[in-house]
Amino acid sequence: MGLKEVARQIKEVANIVDVIGEHISLRRSGRNYLGLCPFHADKKPSFTVNEERQIFHCFGCGAGGDVIAFYMKFHNLDFVEAVRELARRFDIPLELSAGKEETSGKREALFELNEKARRFFEHLLWASKSGEVARNYLKTRGLSEKTARLFALGYAPSSYDSLVSHLRLSRFDLALAEEAGLLVRREDGTFFDRFRNRLIFPIFDAARRVAGFGGRILEEGDPKYLNTPETPVYHKSSILYGLSHTRAAIKEDGFGFVVEGYLDLLSLYEAGVKEAVATLGTALTPQHVRLLRGLQAEWFLVFDADEAGFKAALRAAPIFFNAGLFPKVILLPEGHDPDSFVRHYGARAFYDLREGAEEVFDFMIRYLSARFPAGLEGRLALFKELQPALEAIKDPVLREMKISQVAERLKVSESALRKSLKTSPERVGSSPAFSYSERSLVEFVIHFPQYFLELWEAGLPEVLKDKRLLALLKALKNSKFSAASPSDLTLEDLELQSLWSEILLTPPPFKDYPPERVAVEIKSWLLRRRAKTRLESLLKAIKEAEASGREEEALRLLEEYQQLRLQV
Ligand code: GTP
Ligand code: MN
Repeated sequence: MGLKEVARQIKEVANIVDVIGEHISLRRSGRNYLGLCPFHADKKPSFTVNEERQIFHCFGCGAGGDVIAFYMKFHNLDFVEAVRELARRFDIPLELSAGKEETSGKREALFELNEKARRFFEHLLWASKSGEVARNYLKTRGLSEKTARLFALGYAPSSYDSLVSHLRLSRFDLALAEEAGLLVRREDGTFFDRFRNRLIFPIFDAARRVAGFGGRILEEGDPKYLNTPETPVYHKSSILYGLSHTRAAIKEDGFGFVVEGYLDLLSLYEAGVKEAVATLGTALTPQHVRLLRGLQAEWFLVFDADEAGFKAALRAAPIFFNAGLFPKVILLPEGHDPDSFVRHYGARAFYDLREGAEEVFDFMIRYLSARFPAGLEGRLALFKELQPALEAIKDPVLREMKISQVAERLKVSESALRKSLKTSPERVGSSPAFSYSERSLVEFVIHFPQYFLELWEAGLPEVLKDKRLLALLKALKNSKFSAASPSDLTLEDLELQSLWSEILLTPPPFKDYPPERVAVEIKSWLLRRRAKTRLESLLKAIKEAEASGREEEALRLLEEYQQLRLQV
């Protein structure tokens, strides 16, 4: 059974309202269900689920599609994985063709290898003689065996081939282990261990699978930290260290700390502060912030009180604002990081830092005003620095509040400030400006599929310059599309899915005219267009024939030209 067939069956048995309703709360509103969109910072419910057509669409951010598209987007899966998951849920047997199997199979294999390596490192930490150096290191860092075991810490010895030999003995594919970032290939084709003489931190994804590793050097050496490089299962820009273990506490307590280091997180946890997540040596990304947003907590960004810490706070601000989050900043006393602070002052004192925390925007204003000179130039420079953050604030009320705050600070009028900001109109729909006619033609055949074939044959695909509209139309053609059963159409492409759901949920175009009349008009317009194109090329051919003295040919073409002229 092909993948598309499985997808079709899923859509037959799964009710999209039930499936989405398990993920976010929906309430009935007329013929649709409404909820807060999980894919953007939604203030009023713009996320629409239509039971009759079995699709969803967000009129705020443009995300949309069928139940499979929802699964792909919500759980960050590719098409094959989403179909797999849903098929399992609805007991639909699944025999995927070999080619499709490969990509998912590869990910599974990488997870399996990582798990194998994790067990090996963990075993070496607790049960090997050489692991003693790492066990002692844990003691010096104040980490108990309990915490270390909970986070599955491990030890990678100094040799270049301990993991290589271990994997070879178990007949694992070493080339795959290279792809997992565990081994490095030498020029002669042999392999060696990437992680050596390090305390190992497995990095878990949301499903608590081992996506990658971090390793801290145990004695002197460079680099201090080493991480798994990007692999198909490890993307540092979308994983937060510790979240796998701290998610529940953060949700329960309604707040969380964002820190910068593995050991900061572990040390906080050891002290009893179980509401933290750590970035993996990178700046916060929009993907990170999306993860945080899902937990619906108040966030505290914890930074060292040095130049790097300030800069990091400034960089993070617009990313948070963009997602509708307004975190607070905690600056630790000079010379401290969360690890040293909590070990020195204790958990209570760390929690108390929240009281002195400053909203990130206020922090920015204060910090920047201290740096720039008082004059006009200084104010201008300050404004330049604040601008991206201001522009990232979507909520109109909050934005106005911040504008007046900045205006006061800069001693300029609010209206002048407002003018120099790029207005950021709430985007409606995901579709970047289609030309009205192309778009409405496609809308028309989707809403009135009885005219689809006729208009297709009259040349509809020839007039579409927009690639996405054309791709959608072709997909419809291949699926023997009929609006009566949208489940017959399976689109793997999420962008096309959104376009499709958006069109289905918007009213049909040309609504002042009866569709049969519109169809006739469009058809004759298409035929005329086609004829015109043909006329142009005929004219060109005639001129060429005349120019090169092929008179007979020119005459023949002229005849065709004149006949066609009569029809247009
Ligand atoms: P300790 O010195 O062990 O307390 O670690 P730390 O977390 O206090 O170190 P630091 O503040 O220097 O670094 C914070 C985080 O940045 C670390 O947890 C790493 O994720 C990352 N990092 C630090 N140094 C390096 C490095 O040399 N290479 C890479 N890839 N990441 C690093
Ligand atoms: Mn530290």
